[in-house]
Parts: sequence; C-alpha cells; structure tokens
Amino acid sequence: MYNKLMGCLASVRAKTDFKPEVAVILGSGLGEFANEIEIVDTISYNEIEGFPVSTVKGHAGRFVFGYVENTPVVIMQGRVHYYEGYPMADVVLPTRLMGLMGAKKLLLTNAAGGCNPNFKPGDLMIIADHITTGVPSPLIGANIEELGTRFPDMSEVYSNRIQTVIEDCAKKCGIEMQKGVYVQFTGPNYETPSEVRLAQKWGGDAVGMSTAVEAMAANHMGMEIGGISCITNMAAGISKVQLNHKEVQETADMVADNFKKLVAKVIVNM
Ligand code: HPA
Repeated sequence: MYNKLMGCLASVRAKTDFKPEVAVILGSGLGEFANEIEIVDTISYNEIEGFPVSTVKGHAGRFVFGYVENTPVVIMQGRVHYYEGYPMADVVLPTRLMGLMGAKKLLLTNAAGGCNPNFKPGDLMIIADHITTGVPSPLIGANIEELGTRFPDMSEVYSNRIQTVIEDCAKKCGIEMQKGVYVQFTGPNYETPSEVRLAQKWGGDAVGMSTAVEAMAANHMGMEIGGISCITNMAAGISKVQLNHKEVQETADMVADNFKKLVAKVIVNM
C-alpha cells in the first residue's frame, strides 16, 4: 500500500508541485465550493495511476488545488466510498495522499442523517467524535510504518482546537451550529429505524456512509482534523417519509450558501 501511495504521489507530482497546507473533502451535494476558490490546478482521479475512481452521481471526482485567501488548499471534489466496493485501504488512499502532498490539516465534510431528535434538516453539525463500529478499520492489515504507529490513539480525532475554530467562524457568519457524534455505517442502503435507535443508544447524533474512516487514517498519520456534517434529513424512523438521495441533494443545495461561507472561513482560520 505504501508503494501504491508513492506511485500516486509521483503521478500527482508529475502534474503539479503545489504544496497544500489544508486538505478538504467535500461531501454529497457540497462539491460546488471547490469551483469558487482561486484554482491553480486540477487533477481528475482517473489521471492518477492506481487511484480508486468514484462512481456516485454528483461526485465529480477530482483534486482541486488552489488558494482560499492566502491558504493553499487541496480539495477532493468527490470522495471514495466503501459501498462502491473498494477495500477500506483504497477508500482512505486519497486522504493519505493529501497528507503526503504536505497537508498537515484536514477538513472533512459530509451529508448525514440526523438521529438526535433536536436536529432538523438543514442544520450543520460540528463533528466532535465518531463511532466506526459498523465498518472495518482502514488500519487493518500490515501497518504502514512510514505513516504512523500500529496502535494509534483515537482520544481526540477531531481536534478540540479546530472545533473551537469552527464554532467561532460560525458565530462570525451568523450560522447556528449543532455539535455531535457521527456514526459511520457501510451504506449504500440507508439505515433501518432499529439501526438508527442503536446509533442513538451508542451516543450518536448523526449517521452516514463516509468520513470517520478517513479521519482514522488521517489521525494515524498525524494530521489535525476538523469535521462538519450537513444534516440533510432526519434518519430513518425519525423521519416520517422514506429517504432518498434526491432529498439529500436538495437539502444540501438549500444550505450550500451558508456551508460555503463557513468552510471558506474555517479553512483560512484553521
Ligand atoms: N443515512 C446515511 N447516510 C446519509 C443519510 C442518512 O440518513 N443522509 C445523508 N447521508
């Protein structure tokens, strides 16, 4: 896997020597942000040798390199999901690659279902912690010693410092935030009402199909992480209506302006 990563890095370096400080992953329906930064370069995932290519509609599938004010960023416009059929090590390959490009900080975003009954569709949630009991660890297999230790500590995956930065930025933008625990399931199916009740009993506030494994891989290699969930719908059983991807995209569109404002401010201040 380390050799594969090095091959991908060489592919990227053949096209650009851009050195990002901050890496960003944009979730379902939130990808538009990348079109509005000062773009220096882009690389489609399918230009990178050995790179897993996303198949989900609405996930563009490219790295965007550029500046948000003076901060050099690399943005994943479209991520790789476990439910697409890739081994978990491939799912987190892009995250690791952005770390190897030089990004020391990572901002993760996603669309998620709210399982905290105090949430409502359209809320933005600071990810305070996560639960990945429903998915295999991306760190299973031979440890990549070049990246990190065999048994990494996970007591502060989402940096307290960045959580405070997100809170402060939201206040300055006049955006109310929720804060909570993100529970990752495999997808691609949405959860059953019983699974949502399980997530609640575990202490979860939102459920989704991504993000937490990326955070684990980034934490393993020493990146400092922040996370924001866009609550696009109430999770199954709380929601009175059946869930569908269209609703997720429509809510993400609805909050896009606030989301973009917040993400830009967080990038500059994290
Ligand atoms: N469950 C899982 N993933 C999701 C949801 C959900 O309710 N909404 C958006 N992504």
